[in-house]
Amino acid sequence: MANESDSSSELPEVLVAEYRKAPPDEPEAPLLGPRDRVIASKPSNAPIEEETAALLARLTRELDARRTIETGMAAGHSAVAVASVHAGRGEGIHTCIDPYQTAQWKSAGLDLADKAGVREYITLIEEPSELALPALAADGTRVDLAFVDGLHLFDHALIDFFYMDRMLEEGGVIVFHDTWMPAIQKAVGYVVSNRAYERIEGRTAEVERETNLAALRKTGTDDRDWFFDRPFDEALYDPPGQSPSDRGRPRHEVESLE
Ligand SMILES: C[S@@+](CC[C@H](N)C(=O)[O-])C[C@H]1O[C@@H](n2cnc3c(N)ncnc32)[C@H](O)[C@@H]1O
Repeated sequence: MANESDSSSELPEVLVAEYRKAPPDEPEAPLLGPRDRVIASKPSNAPIEEETAALLARLTRELDARRTIETGMAAGHSAVAVASVHAGRGEGIHTCIDPYQTAQWKSAGLDLADKAGVREYITLIEEPSELALPALAADGTRVDLAFVDGLHLFDHALIDFFYMDRMLEEGGVIVFHDTWMPAIQKAVGYVVSNRAYERIEGRTAEVERETNLAALRKTGTDDRDWFFDRPFDEALYDPPGQSPSDRGRPRHEVESLE
């Protein structure tokens, strides 16, 4: 993972400035366990970490990905990181799917894209991804890089993956954000154990939890037999020797449930 100065060099100044703002005091999105106790919280208060934004930019550049897509635009950090690479080479389009960009986010992502001068490289679809992605796939859309960061429920993350995979070229990459969340770990566990994808950059499940992302490269077409099924429970997601009960709990803010 790139260090902070490496990260900055991948990103436009407008986005780097967002990361230099003082973060809110309280962690966002605490994960509540029994008796409403916080058992885990998001590793960072930013919509995506600076390192994640930099990784998306680097992958877009290194893969020469010109057709990119994401679910969940929100503040526009991931969108601006990717679209800046398109802008730098003067070609490419980043499709953002987020039903709430105007209604709830008051166009924050689009405004950041305007400020960064990359708006023309972004297409926004303001619909739920579970409806927008099948329509894009049916239209024959193809993509080189996909980012899953929309609704973080297990079934929604898996549906995002399912349709993104149908559109993804072989050799393309899907990045899942928020691997601190058990629902996302489960989705990633399914992909690496059942589908033709490999973790890239030497990542392990443990590192994915640390970095809060999983980057998976598509290694082939889906040629499973109709009866194929491989379990993808916690033990399979976690590296051997690790207790599944540690799953979903980042190294900080872990409380005993006793
Ligand atoms: C964690 S935020 C995304 C952060 C964003 N990638 C960034 O860098 O700023 C999750 C986003 O998912 C969106 N969302 C919620 N339900 C959705 C759905 N069904 N389809 C697509 N996006 C959805 C929310 O509106 C929110 O903007």
